[in-house]
Formats: sequence, structure tokens, C-alpha cells
Amino acid sequence: MKITASTRVAGVVGHPAGHSLSPVIHNAWIGAGGLDAVYLAFEPPADGFRRLIEGLRGVALGVNVTIPFKAQALALADHASEPARRAGAANLLVFRPDGSIEADNTDGVGLVRAMELAGYVADKAVLLGAGGAARGAAMALLDAGFAEVAVVNRTLERAQEIAALDPRLRALGWDQADAALESASVLVNATSLGMTGQPPLVLSLDALPRSATVVDMVYRPMRTQLLASAGRRGVKTVSGLDMLIQQAVPSFQAIFGQAPQGDVRRLCLEALGEAA
Ligand code: ATR
Repeated sequence: MKITASTRVAGVVGHPAGHSLSPVIHNAWIGAGGLDAVYLAFEPPADGFRRLIEGLRGVALGVNVTIPFKAQALALADHASEPARRAGAANLLVFRPDGSIEADNTDGVGLVRAMELAGYVADKAVLLGAGGAARGAAMALLDAGFAEVAVVNRTLERAQEIAALDPRLRALGWDQADAALESASVLVNATSLGMTGQPPLVLSLDALPRSATVVDMVYRPMRTQLLASAGRRGVKTVSGLDMLIQQAVPSFQAIFGQAPQGDVRRLCLEALGEAA
């Protein structure tokens, strides 16, 4: 990659941002597409998101946004897509040459696309978690045609807040997860449980039909305990890495104006320190 005065800038903004795989993914696609661009990681202080975005507005091409700035990203955009508005969060800001900012959310598309690649039936989903990630996932599952999504969360009130958004959503406490699993065609973990440094996700999959698909949005580690139990149960699995790569596809298209080329999975696994 040759960086010159004409090289265009894009990146990911988060706190922390240092371990993000987005630079690995997008710089590989920039290289494969022969683009004169570079994709960096920006880590503003917790109260410095707006300042950074105002500085990049009309200068950079666009940025992906990650924890904890997704809601702020939506709030400061001039225009927001329907998926971003419904999720209440944006993971993508595109800076137009006229200085305006367009917000989008490609997390939901990424989730559903990754599920499509593994195979799934859009019937009843069990969604673990009620944070920002879960809210986006709930909307994406409804858009994908699920008849019912059970939102299971430790704090029932947060699940109820999400469930209030659509009649096809219902809120359940953690102790009701087993019963919901019996009729689930898809199980999605949108909690932080199972992530390196977080408590494990303890959930028996004995009640889950063998035709189901299990998705873990956690990608550190790649092979979570949940995905390991799903593998033992013989059901289809989708990793957080699959979803991350699939949300990056429309992000790249929007930022650079062309479709990405090339498989970046192996590079991501290397960056994660996992065998390909
Ligand atoms: P994000 O916006 O990334 O989704 P979040 O809002 O912090 O992050 O949400 C984290 C999710 O993981 C929540 O559903 C949280 O449950 P609570 O709403 O009850 O806090 C869930 N979570 C985190 N740690 C948990 C734990 N030890 N046990 C059960 N659920 C946990």
C-alpha cells in the first residue's frame, strides 16, 4: 500500500478500537481493489466522539462506529437510514462531499446474511440479551420474516422495552429460556456472555430442535462455549466473525463506492490468533 497526498482516509471509531478487526478486513479489500485509500482505527476519549466526527466530516470518506458510540453516531448524522433509526444506533457514517453525514446500520444485514450462508428457517427466534446489539438483531430478525422473537434477558425490564417495539417480540426472563428453545428455529446470543474476560454463557441446548441454527455475536474467542455446545448438538452455527465480515461488505460498498473482492476470513483468524 503506497500512501501519498491523494490517499483517502476511512476507518473505525470505537473505545477501545485497538483490537478491532475492521482495519484488517477493509485494508485487505482496499488492496485487492487497487484503491488509493487507507482504513485506520480511531480511539477518541469517551467524551470526544463528536469532536472527532466534526473533524472528519467532509474530509474522510466514512467511518464504521463501534462500542460505545453507535447511539451518538445516529444522533449526530444529518440523514439516517430506516435500519439505523429502527435499531436506534448506527455502525456506519458516510461523509458526503457537501459536508453532510449519512448514518446507516449494517449489523442487521450482516447478521441475516451470515445466517443465510449457514442456512436457517425464519420461524421463531430466541434472542439472548437486550442491549444495543440485541435491539438491532431483533429488528433484523423481524425484517427477515420471523413470526416471533423471544427476547430473553437477565433484566426483564430491558427485554420488555425492546418487546414494546413490535407485537411479534415478547420478553422473557432468563429462567424461561429453556421453554422458548423447544420451538426455536434460531438462537442468537447478543449478550457479552462468553466473551474473553466476561462470565461464561451457561445454557443447555438439550431442548433446541436439531434443525435449528445457533448464532453467537461474540467473536473473541471465535469458538465460544455456546458454539461448541451447538456443534455437539449437531445444529448449524454462525460465529460473530461471520457476522462481522458480512456487516463489513455493505459498509465497504457505501464508503468506497464499490463491492469488496476477496475472502478475508483467513486474515481475520490470523489476527485473532486462531488457526484457519
Ligand atoms: P450492547 O449495547 O453491546 O448490546 P449492553 O447494553 O451492555 O451492550 O448489553 C449487554 C447485554 O449482556 C445485556 O443484555 C446484559 O444483560 P442486562 O440487561 O441484564 O444487563 C447482558 N449481560 C451482561 N453481563 C451479563 C451477566 N453476567 N449475566 C446475564 N446477562 C449479562
